[in-house]
Amino acid sequence: MQMPNLLEAKKRTNNSVKTTNYHLDSKYQKLGQNKTYFIKTYGCQMNEHDTENIKAILEQMAFKETDVMENADLILLNTCAIRENAHNKVFGMIGRIKHLKASKPNIIVGMCGCMVQEESVALEIKDKYKWLDIVFGTHNIHELPKVLYESLKNKRLELEVYSIEGDIVENMPVKRDSKYKAWVNIMYGCDKFCTYCIVPYTRGKQRSRAKEDIINEVKELIKDGYKEVTLLGQNVNAYGKDLNAGYDMSDLLKETAETGIARVRFITSHPWDFTDKMIDVIAKYPNIMPYIHLPIQSGSDRILKLMGRRYTKETYIDLFNKIKKNIPNCAITTDIIVGFPGETRKDFEETLDVVNTCKFDSAFTFIFSAREGTPAAKMKDETLLEEKEKRLYELNALINKYAKEANDKYLNKVVPVLLEGISDKNSSMLMGYTDTMKLVNVKAPKDQIGQIVKVKITDVKTWSMDGEIANE
Ligand code: SAH
Ligand code: SF4
Ligand code: F3S
Repeated sequence: MQMPNLLEAKKRTNNSVKTTNYHLDSKYQKLGQNKTYFIKTYGCQMNEHDTENIKAILEQMAFKETDVMENADLILLNTCAIRENAHNKVFGMIGRIKHLKASKPNIIVGMCGCMVQEESVALEIKDKYKWLDIVFGTHNIHELPKVLYESLKNKRLELEVYSIEGDIVENMPVKRDSKYKAWVNIMYGCDKFCTYCIVPYTRGKQRSRAKEDIINEVKELIKDGYKEVTLLGQNVNAYGKDLNAGYDMSDLLKETAETGIARVRFITSHPWDFTDKMIDVIAKYPNIMPYIHLPIQSGSDRILKLMGRRYTKETYIDLFNKIKKNIPNCAITTDIIVGFPGETRKDFEETLDVVNTCKFDSAFTFIFSAREGTPAAKMKDETLLEEKEKRLYELNALINKYAKEANDKYLNKVVPVLLEGISDKNSSMLMGYTDTMKLVNVKAPKDQIGQIVKVKITDVKTWSMDGEIANE
């Protein structure tokens, strides 16, 4: 048993990061014969992509996927720790699964992802959820076969969670959700330590993947018919800083664009490391999409300082304006936290003011959630939840107003859309995203799925648009 430890997770060592290659030992290859698996994924794109790796590892072990949890022989929850409600959802689900296990004792139940990296959660599992079979963390996804094997062999909970990140593991198999767009990790971990955030503890120190491995992955994706890649990291703009090779995110974006893949995206950008060179590269290459997710978190300089974000309202707005000026039609979205400890009405009004200035294309908004072990969790917080909820409501109304205004500009315009599949809302329509990441439901024949087509926008709403294939 390997338990995570908060103090260890906080440490940053100068140990050089090695790259190793994934290999599945032959003794694990039949573990899943005649068995099915079901995975539920919480959290961010990082977790979604990890799930794509986990699925492929399980399938190498002969498991088959099912999308009905009740039918599965192996149920795995890939969890997120970013806010308290993510926790609650997972433990609610675990309760449901416990009932299922009571009637089907042979099912294998597991947890992985960011939540189990938390010391308190691991202790809780050891204490109250001993009936779980496997628990592994974000640093040892490649060890899933071994953890599963040991649990089956010993018929007991196998909990293996490391606090210190290990090697970068290349060549992990992947079962991608989409045939047209793909996530590509460019870095793991985060060293920013924003005072509210748990990620630097659950994902370890920043480790950039070698550029050759990234570019080779993109080239393989092109061969497989992929149209779009999204370069993934917690703050992609810091790519390469840890490698000290004089090769940064702007170089990587350029080289990725030069592979010729139709669309390049990247998330998430921290304003801190966003360089002019990056803006130039994005502006220059038509296959780098004019869409940037640029979390601001707060508009109050006082709160930004307490958050450890290292920019001010003014420098954020300067960057925002520079991007808008240099990258025509660039859509910019953001993340905002309300109710950070000590946030006053005046601080909140500074946030509303930035929203009125930037008129974001859209935003994810959250109420601050104290995460154990982070500095902000110890800060004095006297604002009532009720007041925080009011602020969130007020902020969302403003965000929605500007989201609709941004979309209104698209009415009757012709825009490129990568058609991804059948629309959730209307099964006679297809859905896809514009270059600027607007969701469009399109009247188009099914054989156009997987194509980037020109779409005329016929109707706009706050969160989506409708369109039809443009006649040119
Ligand atoms: N690496 C990304 C953010 C990843 S987490 C970045 O720096 O932009 C996604 C969002 O969750 C954050 O942008 C933040 O708005 C929100 N978030 C993170 N920790 C939070 C907390 N403790 N309470 C509420 N929201 C939080
Ligand atoms: Fe969290 Fe900040 Fe790192 Fe983003 S940059 S993952 S908010 S610590
Ligand atoms: Fe959640 Fe971990 Fe992502 S905490 S937001 S799944 S990095």
